[in-house]
Amino acid sequence: MLTMSEKGKKMPESPIRKLVPFSEKAKKKGINVLHLNIGQPDILPPKNVIQKINNFKIDQITYSHSAGIEEYRRKLAIYYQKIQKHISYQDILITTGGSEALNTVLNCICDPGDEIIIPDPYYANYNGFSNGANIKIKAITCLIDDGFRLPEINTFEKKITKKTKAILICNPGNPTGALYTSKELQELAKIIKKYNLFLIADEVYREFVYDNQQHYSTLNLTTIQKNTILIDSTSKRYSMCGARIGCIVSKNKDLIKTALKFSQARLSPPIFGQLAAMEALNTKNLYFKKVIQEYTKRRNTLVNGLNKIPGIKCPMPKGAFYCIAELPVKNSETFCQWLLEKFSFKGTTVMLAPASGFYSKENGTQNQVRIAYVLDINRLELAIKIIQEGLEIYKD
Ligand SMILES: Cc1ncc(COP(=O)(O)O)c(C=O)c1O
Repeated sequence: MLTMSEKGKKMPESPIRKLVPFSEKAKKKGINVLHLNIGQPDILPPKNVIQKINNFKIDQITYSHSAGIEEYRRKLAIYYQKIQKHISYQDILITTGGSEALNTVLNCICDPGDEIIIPDPYYANYNGFSNGANIKIKAITCLIDDGFRLPEINTFEKKITKKTKAILICNPGNPTGALYTSKELQELAKIIKKYNLFLIADEVYREFVYDNQQHYSTLNLTTIQKNTILIDSTSKRYSMCGARIGCIVSKNKDLIKTALKFSQARLSPPIFGQLAAMEALNTKNLYFKKVIQEYTKRRNTLVNGLNKIPGIKCPMPKGAFYCIAELPVKNSETFCQWLLEKFSFKGTTVMLAPASGFYSKENGTQNQVRIAYVLDINRLELAIKIIQEGLEIYKD
Protein backbone atom coordinates (compact mmCIF):
# COMPACT_ATOMS: atom_id res chain seq x y z
CA MET A 1 0.00 0.00 0.00
CA LEU A 2 1.25 3.43 -0.86
CA THR A 3 0.71 4.81 2.62
CA MET A 4 3.10 6.87 4.66
CA SER A 5 4.47 5.64 7.98
CA GLU A 6 2.92 6.85 11.24
CA LYS A 7 6.27 8.48 11.89
CA GLY A 8 6.08 10.25 8.53
CA LYS A 9 2.56 11.45 9.25
CA LYS A 10 3.60 12.70 12.67
CA MET A 11 6.73 14.47 11.40
CA PRO A 12 6.23 18.14 12.40
CA GLU A 13 6.46 20.92 9.87
CA SER A 14 9.15 23.49 10.56
CA PRO A 15 7.60 26.44 12.42
CA ILE A 16 10.23 28.62 10.80
CA ARG A 17 9.16 27.77 7.29
CA LYS A 18 5.41 27.35 7.81
CA LEU A 19 4.63 30.91 6.77
CA VAL A 20 6.88 30.83 3.70
CA PRO A 21 3.97 30.65 1.18
CA PHE A 22 2.63 33.92 2.66
CA SER A 23 6.01 35.63 2.40
CA GLU A 24 6.32 34.43 -1.21
CA LYS A 25 2.89 35.90 -2.00
CA ALA A 26 3.89 39.20 -0.37
CA LYS A 27 7.06 39.30 -2.46
CA LYS A 28 5.07 38.62 -5.64
CA LYS A 29 2.94 41.66 -4.77
CA GLY A 30 6.19 43.68 -4.74
CA ILE A 31 6.45 43.94 -0.94
CA ASN A 32 9.92 43.75 0.55
CA VAL A 33 10.06 41.14 3.35
CA LEU A 34 12.56 41.44 6.21
CA HIS A 35 13.38 37.91 7.31
CA LEU A 36 13.74 37.74 11.06
CA ASN A 37 12.24 34.27 11.16
CA ILE A 38 15.30 32.20 10.34
CA GLY A 39 18.77 31.84 11.84
CA GLN A 40 20.62 32.39 8.59
CA PRO A 41 23.16 35.10 9.49
CA ASP A 42 24.00 37.84 6.98
CA ILE A 43 27.45 38.11 8.61
CA LEU A 44 30.16 37.06 6.17
CA PRO A 45 32.26 33.96 6.88
CA PRO A 46 35.94 34.54 7.76
CA LYS A 47 37.88 35.82 4.69
CA ASN A 48 40.44 33.00 4.97
CA VAL A 49 37.63 30.45 4.55
CA ILE A 50 36.24 32.15 1.45
CA GLN A 51 39.75 32.40 -0.03
CA LYS A 52 40.35 28.73 0.67
CA ILE A 53 37.11 27.77 -1.09
CA ASN A 54 37.86 29.99 -4.08
CA ASN A 55 41.34 28.48 -4.40
CA PHE A 56 40.45 24.80 -4.07
CA LYS A 57 42.72 22.79 -6.37
CA ILE A 58 40.94 19.50 -6.60
CA ASP A 59 41.21 16.67 -9.08
CA GLN A 60 39.18 14.03 -7.25
CA ILE A 61 35.96 14.19 -5.28
CA THR A 62 36.29 11.32 -2.85
CA TYR A 63 34.57 10.14 0.30
CA SER A 64 36.47 10.93 3.45
CA HIS A 65 36.82 8.59 6.40
CA SER A 66 33.37 8.10 7.95
CA ALA A 67 34.61 9.75 11.15
CA GLY A 68 35.84 12.74 9.15
CA ILE A 69 39.27 13.74 7.81
CA GLU A 70 41.79 12.75 10.47
CA GLU A 71 43.81 15.95 10.05
CA TYR A 72 40.64 17.97 10.67
CA ARG A 73 39.75 15.91 13.75
CA ARG A 74 43.26 16.38 15.13
CA LYS A 75 43.06 20.16 14.59
CA LEU A 76 39.60 20.27 16.13
CA ALA A 77 40.94 18.41 19.17
CA ILE A 78 43.44 21.27 19.67
CA TYR A 79 40.51 23.73 19.57
CA TYR A 80 38.54 21.74 22.20
CA GLN A 81 41.65 21.30 24.35
CA LYS A 82 41.35 25.03 25.10
CA ILE A 83 38.13 24.11 26.90
CA GLN A 84 39.09 20.66 28.22
CA LYS A 85 42.69 19.62 27.92
CA HIS A 86 42.05 15.86 27.70
CA ILE A 87 40.02 15.90 24.46
CA SER A 88 41.68 13.82 21.75
CA TYR A 89 40.80 13.47 18.07
CA GLN A 90 39.42 10.01 18.90
CA ASP A 91 36.71 11.68 20.98
CA ILE A 92 35.47 13.56 17.90
CA LEU A 93 33.30 12.46 14.97
CA ILE A 94 32.64 14.84 12.08
CA THR A 95 29.01 15.02 10.98
CA THR A 96 26.89 16.66 8.30
CA GLY A 97 26.02 19.66 10.44
CA GLY A 98 24.89 19.71 14.04
CA SER A 99 21.63 18.25 12.68
CA GLU A 100 23.19 14.93 11.81
CA ALA A 101 25.12 14.93 15.08
CA LEU A 102 21.83 15.24 17.02
CA ASN A 103 20.09 12.61 14.92
CA THR A 104 22.95 10.15 15.29
CA VAL A 105 23.34 10.68 19.03
CA LEU A 106 19.61 10.19 19.72
CA ASN A 107 19.64 6.99 17.69
CA CYS A 108 22.76 5.78 19.49
CA ILE A 109 21.37 6.15 22.99
CA CYS A 110 17.58 5.72 22.71
CA ASP A 111 15.29 2.86 21.86
CA PRO A 112 11.70 3.51 20.76
CA GLY A 113 9.67 4.74 23.74
CA ASP A 114 12.67 6.11 25.62
CA GLU A 115 12.42 9.62 26.99
CA ILE A 116 14.58 12.72 26.95
CA ILE A 117 14.04 15.78 29.10
CA ILE A 118 14.37 19.22 27.47
CA PRO A 119 13.87 22.75 28.84
CA ASP A 120 10.95 24.29 26.94
CA PRO A 121 10.90 26.26 24.56
CA TYR A 122 13.53 24.44 22.52
CA TYR A 123 14.99 24.24 19.01
CA ALA A 124 12.00 22.98 17.03
CA ASN A 125 13.91 20.31 15.09
CA TYR A 126 14.45 18.38 18.33
CA ASN A 127 10.81 17.35 17.75
CA GLY A 128 11.63 16.08 14.27
CA PHE A 129 14.72 14.14 15.40
CA SER A 130 12.83 12.61 18.34
CA ASN A 131 9.93 11.67 16.11
CA GLY A 132 12.33 9.94 13.70
CA ALA A 133 13.77 7.86 16.54
CA ASN A 134 10.39 7.31 18.30
CA ILE A 135 11.58 9.13 21.40
CA LYS A 136 9.27 10.92 23.81
CA ILE A 137 10.19 14.47 24.81
CA LYS A 138 9.45 15.42 28.43
CA ALA A 139 9.46 19.20 28.40
CA ILE A 140 10.11 21.48 31.37
CA THR A 141 8.67 24.95 30.99
CA CYS A 142 11.03 27.90 31.31
CA LEU A 143 9.44 31.27 31.91
CA ILE A 144 9.83 34.51 30.01
CA ASP A 145 9.70 36.39 33.35
CA ASP A 146 12.78 34.42 34.52
CA GLY A 147 14.63 35.22 31.29
CA PHE A 148 14.21 31.52 30.37
CA ARG A 149 16.91 30.46 32.83
CA LEU A 150 17.55 26.78 33.49
CA PRO A 151 14.63 25.32 35.50
CA GLU A 152 15.13 24.36 39.15
CA ILE A 153 16.97 21.08 39.43
CA ASN A 154 14.15 19.36 41.33
CA THR A 155 11.84 19.94 38.34
CA PHE A 156 14.23 17.81 36.27
CA GLU A 157 14.20 15.16 38.94
CA LYS A 158 10.37 15.04 38.89
CA LYS A 159 10.41 14.23 35.14
CA ILE A 160 12.84 11.32 35.41
CA THR A 161 11.30 7.88 34.85
CA LYS A 162 12.71 4.42 34.09
CA LYS A 163 12.58 5.37 30.41
CA THR A 164 14.64 8.54 30.74
CA LYS A 165 17.91 8.35 28.83
CA ALA A 166 19.11 11.93 28.63
CA ILE A 167 18.68 15.58 29.39
CA LEU A 168 19.15 17.75 26.30
CA ILE A 169 20.14 21.39 26.72
CA CYS A 170 21.01 24.12 24.25
CA ASN A 171 23.54 26.61 25.60
CA PRO A 172 23.45 29.45 24.58
CA GLY A 173 19.88 28.79 23.69
CA ASN A 174 17.93 28.85 20.49
CA PRO A 175 15.18 30.16 20.64
CA THR A 176 15.59 31.99 23.96
CA GLY A 177 19.15 33.35 24.01
CA ALA A 178 19.48 32.01 27.57
CA LEU A 179 22.99 31.32 28.84
CA TYR A 180 23.41 28.79 31.64
CA THR A 181 25.82 29.56 34.46
CA SER A 182 28.56 27.22 35.67
CA LYS A 183 26.64 26.87 38.94
CA GLU A 184 23.45 25.80 37.15
CA LEU A 185 25.36 23.31 35.04
CA GLN A 186 27.18 21.87 38.02
CA GLU A 187 23.83 21.35 39.74
CA LEU A 188 22.56 19.63 36.61
CA ALA A 189 25.66 17.42 36.61
CA LYS A 190 24.69 16.13 40.06
CA ILE A 191 21.33 14.89 38.73
CA ILE A 192 22.99 13.40 35.66
CA LYS A 193 25.39 11.52 37.91
CA LYS A 194 22.76 10.45 40.44
CA TYR A 195 20.51 8.87 37.77
CA ASN A 196 23.37 7.97 35.38
CA LEU A 197 21.81 9.77 32.40
CA PHE A 198 23.39 11.24 29.29
CA LEU A 199 23.72 15.01 29.09
CA ILE A 200 23.47 16.13 25.47
CA ALA A 201 24.68 19.71 25.17
CA ASP A 202 23.93 21.54 21.94
CA GLU A 203 26.54 24.29 21.93
CA VAL A 204 26.36 25.35 18.29
CA TYR A 205 26.21 29.03 19.35
CA ARG A 206 29.12 28.71 21.82
CA GLU A 207 31.06 31.76 20.63
CA PHE A 208 28.08 34.12 20.76
CA VAL A 209 28.00 35.27 24.35
CA TYR A 210 27.51 38.95 25.25
CA ASP A 211 28.25 41.51 27.98
CA ASN A 212 31.69 40.00 28.72
CA GLN A 213 30.14 36.85 30.13
CA GLN A 214 31.95 33.53 29.78
CA HIS A 215 30.45 30.46 28.18
CA TYR A 216 30.70 27.44 30.46
CA SER A 217 30.90 24.34 28.30
CA THR A 218 29.64 20.94 29.39
CA LEU A 219 33.11 19.67 28.49
CA ASN A 220 34.14 21.32 31.77
CA LEU A 221 31.87 19.04 33.78
CA THR A 222 34.64 16.55 34.48
CA THR A 223 32.65 14.61 37.10
CA ILE A 224 30.29 13.37 34.36
CA GLN A 225 32.71 13.02 31.45
CA LYS A 226 31.34 9.65 30.33
CA ASN A 227 27.76 10.97 30.42
CA THR A 228 28.40 14.11 28.39
CA ILE A 229 27.87 14.43 24.63
CA LEU A 230 28.65 17.73 22.96
CA ILE A 231 26.94 18.74 19.71
CA ASP A 232 28.75 21.32 17.66
CA SER A 233 28.58 22.96 14.24
CA THR A 234 30.42 25.42 12.01
CA SER A 235 27.10 26.74 10.63
CA LYS A 236 26.53 29.67 12.96
CA ARG A 237 29.92 30.22 14.54
CA TYR A 238 31.63 30.90 11.21
CA SER A 239 28.47 31.79 9.24
CA MET A 240 29.03 28.62 7.22
CA CYS A 241 25.52 27.12 7.25
CA GLY A 242 25.88 25.69 3.74
CA ALA A 243 29.18 23.89 4.44
CA ARG A 244 27.13 21.35 6.44
CA ILE A 245 29.81 20.47 8.95
CA GLY A 246 29.31 19.70 12.62
CA CYS A 247 30.62 17.18 15.10
CA ILE A 248 29.98 14.99 18.12
CA VAL A 249 32.47 15.23 20.99
CA SER A 250 32.40 12.73 23.82
CA LYS A 251 34.75 10.93 26.16
CA ASN A 252 32.32 8.01 26.14
CA LYS A 253 34.05 5.44 23.92
CA ASP A 254 30.90 3.29 23.50
CA LEU A 255 29.02 6.33 22.24
CA ILE A 256 31.72 7.21 19.73
CA LYS A 257 32.00 3.59 18.60
CA THR A 258 28.22 3.33 18.10
CA ALA A 259 28.00 6.72 16.39
CA LEU A 260 30.76 5.63 14.01
CA LYS A 261 28.56 2.72 12.85
CA PHE A 262 25.77 5.20 11.99
CA SER A 263 28.41 7.37 10.31
CA GLN A 264 29.65 4.42 8.26
CA ALA A 265 26.10 3.76 7.07
CA ARG A 266 25.99 7.25 5.57
CA LEU A 267 29.59 6.86 4.34
CA SER A 268 31.14 10.29 4.81
CA PRO A 269 30.53 13.91 5.74
CA PRO A 270 30.92 16.39 2.82
CA ILE A 271 34.53 16.70 1.71
CA PHE A 272 34.51 20.37 0.58
CA GLY A 273 32.78 21.37 3.77
CA GLN A 274 35.40 19.63 5.85
CA LEU A 275 38.26 21.35 4.00
CA ALA A 276 36.57 24.72 4.51
CA ALA A 277 35.86 23.91 8.17
CA MET A 278 39.49 22.92 8.70
CA GLU A 279 40.51 26.34 7.39
CA ALA A 280 37.95 27.96 9.68
CA LEU A 281 40.06 26.80 12.62
CA ASN A 282 42.73 29.29 11.48
CA THR A 283 40.31 32.18 11.96
CA LYS A 284 41.79 34.99 14.05
CA ASN A 285 40.13 36.01 17.30
CA LEU A 286 39.56 39.46 15.83
CA TYR A 287 36.89 37.97 13.53
CA PHE A 288 34.86 36.74 16.51
CA LYS A 289 35.44 39.98 18.38
CA LYS A 290 33.94 41.98 15.51
CA VAL A 291 31.06 39.56 14.98
CA ILE A 292 30.20 39.60 18.68
CA GLN A 293 30.33 43.43 18.70
CA GLU A 294 27.95 43.47 15.75
CA TYR A 295 25.50 41.00 17.32
CA THR A 296 25.63 42.92 20.60
CA LYS A 297 24.65 46.15 18.81
CA ARG A 298 21.85 44.38 16.97
CA ARG A 299 20.57 42.69 20.12
CA ASN A 300 20.52 45.98 22.02
CA THR A 301 18.78 47.82 19.18
CA LEU A 302 16.16 45.10 18.75
CA VAL A 303 15.39 44.28 22.37
CA ASN A 304 15.41 47.89 23.61
CA GLY A 305 13.30 48.93 20.60
CA LEU A 306 10.76 46.14 21.15
CA ASN A 307 10.45 46.84 24.87
CA LYS A 308 9.50 50.46 24.06
CA ILE A 309 6.42 49.26 22.16
CA PRO A 310 3.37 49.17 24.49
CA GLY A 311 2.43 45.61 25.46
CA ILE A 312 5.67 43.93 24.31
CA LYS A 313 7.83 42.06 26.78
CA CYS A 314 11.22 40.83 25.66
CA PRO A 315 13.96 39.68 28.07
CA MET A 316 17.53 40.58 27.08
CA PRO A 317 19.16 37.46 25.64
CA LYS A 318 22.66 36.66 26.89
CA GLY A 319 23.82 34.59 23.95
CA ALA A 320 23.10 33.17 20.46
CA PHE A 321 21.25 35.57 18.12
CA TYR A 322 17.60 35.11 18.96
CA CYS A 323 15.10 36.59 21.34
CA ILE A 324 11.58 35.66 22.34
CA ALA A 325 9.10 38.49 22.62
CA GLU A 326 5.62 38.39 24.12
CA LEU A 327 3.21 40.43 21.99
CA PRO A 328 -0.10 42.07 22.93
CA VAL A 329 -1.99 39.67 20.66
CA LYS A 330 -4.00 36.50 21.37
CA ASN A 331 -2.37 34.38 18.71
CA SER A 332 1.05 35.30 17.35
CA GLU A 333 0.77 32.94 14.37
CA THR A 334 -2.32 34.77 13.12
CA PHE A 335 -0.50 38.07 13.68
CA CYS A 336 2.63 36.87 11.79
CA GLN A 337 0.47 35.73 8.89
CA TRP A 338 -1.42 39.05 8.92
CA LEU A 339 1.88 40.95 8.75
CA LEU A 340 2.70 39.07 5.55
CA GLU A 341 -0.75 38.99 3.97
CA LYS A 342 -2.35 42.26 4.93
CA PHE A 343 0.24 44.72 6.13
CA SER A 344 3.19 46.72 4.89
CA PHE A 345 4.84 49.93 5.92
CA LYS A 346 6.57 51.95 3.20
CA GLY A 347 6.47 48.87 0.96
CA THR A 348 8.09 46.56 3.54
CA THR A 349 6.90 43.99 6.04
CA VAL A 350 8.55 41.51 8.45
CA MET A 351 8.51 37.77 8.76
CA LEU A 352 8.67 36.50 12.35
CA ALA A 353 8.51 32.95 13.69
CA PRO A 354 5.51 32.21 15.95
CA ALA A 355 7.11 30.88 19.13
CA SER A 356 4.38 28.27 19.68
CA GLY A 357 6.31 26.05 17.25
CA PHE A 358 9.27 26.09 19.66
CA TYR A 359 7.20 24.94 22.63
CA SER A 360 6.12 21.39 23.38
CA LYS A 361 2.52 20.55 22.46
CA GLU A 362 1.41 20.55 26.10
CA ASN A 363 2.55 24.14 26.51
CA GLY A 364 -0.19 26.57 25.54
CA THR A 365 1.92 29.70 25.04
CA GLN A 366 0.37 31.42 22.00
CA ASN A 367 1.36 35.07 22.18
CA GLN A 368 5.13 34.95 21.67
CA VAL A 369 7.36 35.21 18.62
CA ARG A 370 10.96 34.28 18.07
CA ILE A 371 13.05 36.94 16.35
CA ALA A 372 16.50 36.28 14.89
CA TYR A 373 18.69 39.41 14.82
CA VAL A 374 20.43 38.36 11.64
CA LEU A 375 19.95 41.68 9.79
CA ASP A 376 21.88 44.95 10.07
CA ILE A 377 20.88 47.75 12.44
CA ASN A 378 19.06 49.84 9.80
CA ARG A 379 16.86 46.96 8.77
CA LEU A 380 16.27 45.99 12.41
CA GLU A 381 15.15 49.54 13.18
CA LEU A 382 12.75 49.41 10.24
CA ALA A 383 11.48 46.01 11.44
CA ILE A 384 10.73 47.44 14.90
CA LYS A 385 8.82 50.32 13.31
CA ILE A 386 6.82 47.86 11.18
CA ILE A 387 5.93 45.74 14.22
CA GLN A 388 4.88 48.86 16.13
CA GLU A 389 2.77 50.27 13.26
CA GLY A 390 1.27 46.84 12.65
CA LEU A 391 0.27 46.32 16.28
CA GLU A 392 -1.42 49.74 16.34
CA ILE A 393 -3.96 48.72 13.74
CA TYR A 394 -4.08 44.92 14.21
CA LYS A 395 -7.28 43.46 15.65
CA ASP A 396 -7.24 39.92 17.09
C1 LIG B 1 20.20 24.92 18.43
C2 LIG B 1 20.57 24.37 17.10
N1 LIG B 1 21.14 23.17 17.05
C3 LIG B 1 21.49 22.62 15.88
C4 LIG B 1 21.27 23.28 14.70
C5 LIG B 1 21.66 22.59 13.44
O1 LIG B 1 22.45 23.35 12.60
P1 LIG B 1 23.38 22.72 11.48
O2 LIG B 1 22.81 21.40 11.07
O3 LIG B 1 23.36 23.72 10.39
O4 LIG B 1 24.71 22.57 12.11
C6 LIG B 1 20.67 24.56 14.70
C7 LIG B 1 20.37 25.29 13.47
O5 LIG B 1 19.67 26.26 13.41
C8 LIG B 1 20.33 25.11 15.95
O6 LIG B 1 19.76 26.32 16.05
